[in-house]
This record gives sequence, C-alpha cells and structure tokens, in this order.
Amino acid sequence: MTSSNGNGNGERKLSHVPRHVAIIMDGNGRWAEARGLDRSEGHAEGARAVRASVRTAREQGIEYLTLYAFSIANWARPRPEIDRLMELLVEFAVKEKAELRENGVRVKVVGELEDLPTFARRAVEDSVAYTADCDKMTLTLALSYGGRRDIVDAARALAVRARAGLVLPEEIDEEFFHREMSTREVPDVDLLIRTGGESRVSDFLLYEAAYAELMFVPFMWPDFDKKYFLSALEDYASRERRFGKTSEQVKEGHSFDPLDRARARAGAS
Ligand code: FPP
Repeated sequence: MTSSNGNGNGERKLSHVPRHVAIIMDGNGRWAEARGLDRSEGHAEGARAVRASVRTAREQGIEYLTLYAFSIANWARPRPEIDRLMELLVEFAVKEKAELRENGVRVKVVGELEDLPTFARRAVEDSVAYTADCDKMTLTLALSYGGRRDIVDAARALAVRARAGLVLPEEIDEEFFHREMSTREVPDVDLLIRTGGESRVSDFLLYEAAYAELMFVPFMWPDFDKKYFLSALEDYASRERRFGKTSEQVKEGHSFDPLDRARARAGAS
C-alpha cells in the first residue's frame, strides 16, 4: 500500500486517479451495534469518516466526490434516527465550511433539498453559497436522493417541454437528457465504492454510473479511513476500463468519449 517512491508522506503516487468518485456510505448502524452502541453513535463516527474522506479525496486530486448522505428510502427510518442524521449534516455543513473553502472545495447538492427540515436545508444552502467560487474539487451531497426519481423527473420535464413545442424528440440524446437531471454539473462516475459488505447500488447515480468501476468493500463506513480509501484508489488504477472496446483498442490508446455511442448510432442509421 505504501512505498518510498511517493509524495514524501510514504504514499505511493497513483498512476491515475478517478475524476469522479461516488460513495455509498453503508454500515454505520452495524458498526455501532457491534460495539454495543446506539446506531446514532455509528452515524456520528460516520460523519468523522466523511471529513477524512473529503480530505483524502482533495489531497489525491480527485475532482468530484459524491456522497450518498440520505436516500429517499431513508425517510422510512425511525424519526429519532432521521433527526440525528439531520443534526450531523448541519454540524458538518456549519463546522466544515471554512476548511472546505480554504481547500478549494465547492459543495453541491443533488436530490430534493426541499424535503429536508428547514434548519438542515438552510445550513446546507449556506455551505453551498459559502463555497460557490471554489474550484479545486466538487463535493456533492446526495440528500433525499433517488436515482430513479431523478431520471423520471428529467423525463417528465422534457415531456412537458416537448408538449409545449420547445424540444423536438429527435434533439433528445444522452447528453441532452443529462442536462435535465439534478446531477447535470457532475461528470460520469469513474469509481463507485460501497462500504458495509453489501453488493448493490441502491438507487444511487443509476444514469451516471453506467460505466463506473464498482467496488464493494467489506468494512463498515466508520472504519473507511485514509488507508482504505488509498487502497481503493490503487485498485482502481490497476483496472483496465474498456467501455465496450477490446483490450487491444484500449492499449492502442482509443480514448473513451460517451458521445461515441450516439455518433455510432447516428452513423449506422
Ligand atoms: C448507512 O448506514 C448510512 C446512512 C444512511 C447515512 C450516511 C450518513 C453519514 C455517514 C453521517 C452524516 C453525513 C454527513 C454528510 C455528515 P446504515 O445506518 O444503513 O448502516 P447499517 O446498514 O449498518 O444499518
């Protein structure tokens, strides 16, 4: 994991880092239960892991980090647990915004921020505004987020515009469609990590992770420290991403352009 030919901190220099890393932060509850603690303690420890991961991502030059902080499905949790998660979110937004800004990290949100209680929404909006001109990394918090809902909302918005004659159906390609989604400002996911030992994507970034490298790690989120993050990045750097091409084509340097698919289809028709 570490080597001397690195950046002076004993860390190996990665051959390439993913531009966009998305993380499903699972396992807070089990982490706490395994220690005889309340689930809320697991979330508090999870919030510490969030801070550490943001720092690591920034240090490693990752441009986009997207965290699944609260899904639509999470509204079904017991009210006290939801309240604690909202408090932790506010604590993060309030306490971290200065450091985020100092480090050039811009905060963004995907999902339905309006679904959150007012005190939480305001705190998040404030950190978004406070960091708006930062340009080193974008930290996107998925809040009251669901991938299917985002796709359906985009489809509905386009249908409304098409009915009004503002959009022609033949204009709608993958890029055009993405511009209607709440994730319009983030590029495709390169690496999707899920902690907690489950191997599913749970409605996270369904459209944007179409070509992502998936990594399911057995550790609970509160344990996912810098060492594990770096080892996930090393694993990513060792993978060959082919995007439907052959290994030879990739080695010959055919780059991936998502629009290739649309162009190939247009050329074939
Ligand atoms: C899943 O663990 C985690 C969540 C539902 C929320 C993630 C929230 C945090 C990491 C803390 C606060 C967030 C920020 C951005 C400061 P789980 O409860 O489903 O764990 P389990 O599967 O073991 O029950």
